[in-house]
Amino acid sequence: MPRPALSSTPCPAGCPLRIERVDQRALSRLAAPALAALIALTAGCTGDTVQGRPGASGVRDPYFPKAGNGGYQVDHYDLDLAYDPADKQLHGTAVITARAKQGLSSFNLDFAGLRVEDVTVQGAAARFNRSGTELTVRPPEDLEKGEVFRTEIDYTGTPKPVTDPDGSEEGWITTADGSVAVGEPVGSMGWFPGNHHPSDKATYDIRLTVPNDYEAVSNGELRSRTAVGDGQTEFAWHNAEPMASYLATAAIGKFKVSTGRTPSGIGVYNAVSPDEAPSSAAALARIPEVVEWGSGKFGPYPFGTVGTIVVPDGTLTYALETQTKPVYSGAPDEVLIVHELAHQWFGDSVSPKSWKDMWLNEGFATYAEWMWAEEHGGLSAEKRFDAFLAGDTKVDPDAGSDWGAFPPADPPGPEDISEAPVYARGAMVLHRIRQEVGDEKFAALLRGWAVEHRHGNASTADFTAYAEKKTGHDLTEVWDVWLYGEDRPEA
Ligand code: TRP
Ligand code: ZN
Repeated sequence: MPRPALSSTPCPAGCPLRIERVDQRALSRLAAPALAALIALTAGCTGDTVQGRPGASGVRDPYFPKAGNGGYQVDHYDLDLAYDPADKQLHGTAVITARAKQGLSSFNLDFAGLRVEDVTVQGAAARFNRSGTELTVRPPEDLEKGEVFRTEIDYTGTPKPVTDPDGSEEGWITTADGSVAVGEPVGSMGWFPGNHHPSDKATYDIRLTVPNDYEAVSNGELRSRTAVGDGQTEFAWHNAEPMASYLATAAIGKFKVSTGRTPSGIGVYNAVSPDEAPSSAAALARIPEVVEWGSGKFGPYPFGTVGTIVVPDGTLTYALETQTKPVYSGAPDEVLIVHELAHQWFGDSVSPKSWKDMWLNEGFATYAEWMWAEEHGGLSAEKRFDAFLAGDTKVDPDAGSDWGAFPPADPPGPEDISEAPVYARGAMVLHRIRQEVGDEKFAALLRGWAVEHRHGNASTADFTAYAEKKTGHDLTEVWDVWLYGEDRPEA
């Protein structure tokens, strides 16, 4: 139903007229001149600042058009989740503090499955309805542009995984002894309502209440662990740095927890499925060293804590760079730890503006693997680059992948964003830059990029412009052939 021309929104201070409620029928009975006069009088307050309109149902991501929502930006998520692995029931309260970017008569959140029991906006009951993965909230009063508003959503049910276009599963996944939540690219809508697009980063408090014999682990710093009665323990996790929602996690299980510190004092928190503990130990022991190494290469580690979540082998078909604590399905090796920790700079701190920019995550994390190997007695990046060019699987088994199938900056569709061209050819783009500008300028470029966009978002165009400015080189050939070229480049 279209909204009446003049809504119930109060005019801002300074507006000559405060319109509390104009009845549509009364309005239609006004004589034309009177109506014209009324419109003229209220002209200053009929724009964004007063009259709300619905927020968009997506942010026009080229691959996931329904991901994210328009009209507001989230500052903070406060999630209170209670889960019992025995009955697989999740009870959640999400309190979302956001800022309206336009006058809003309604706004959307992305949310999949589960049952919404109650929604309030600024403490007042709000109407809501659901269609697919869009939860539309209609506050009783329109929100003004610039207004900071608090939305509380109570929900419950048995969370179901979200299946990605490439067939992999995300969202709330049950494990042999509990559950783990992973969200790349759009799985987080399976466990909390939100503005689920990486362009809207926010801070988080995530509290998990679980039966006493379970551990509950999330991103960031453990603020408290409290017996709350009734056989339950609440774990309160805090994230002071902004996070893209696909990087949020919550893991519940019978983890073995160990803690430590990096040489520069960053707290390490490793939660490992007991069966995986012996086989994980050697790789996990290198985390402090990897963080120091990354800090030397890419600038100070972007977060206050670091760590690991190892869920039972076979839970997932991939690892994920969940912020501060990557999730591994089964014991990780050293190379995988380097990859996921490199993402803390590239992906987590510097997040993509859209899912098309995925190679800024994966190409960089893959190249970090190459650099780590080169500096730790392994293959040089140059030799690995040559092996990929030649498809020489004796040097690197991954060189046999179809890395040339499409340009890294332009995957054909959403099912392709985690394919070899995004990873390996993305890394080769970086190596081509290094060949053009030399080691010193290349090192300054990587570090400068991570520092320039720390805790922000960046696109491929931002990168190409920055690379040329920072190095002073014309890199057109690298972009045309390696980054955007349809054909597989040849030696
Ligand atoms: N980002 C993960 C990694 O590098 C891989 C991954 C998991 C992924 N899920 C994805 C990549 C969805 C793209 C889309 O370890
Ligand atoms: Zn990766």
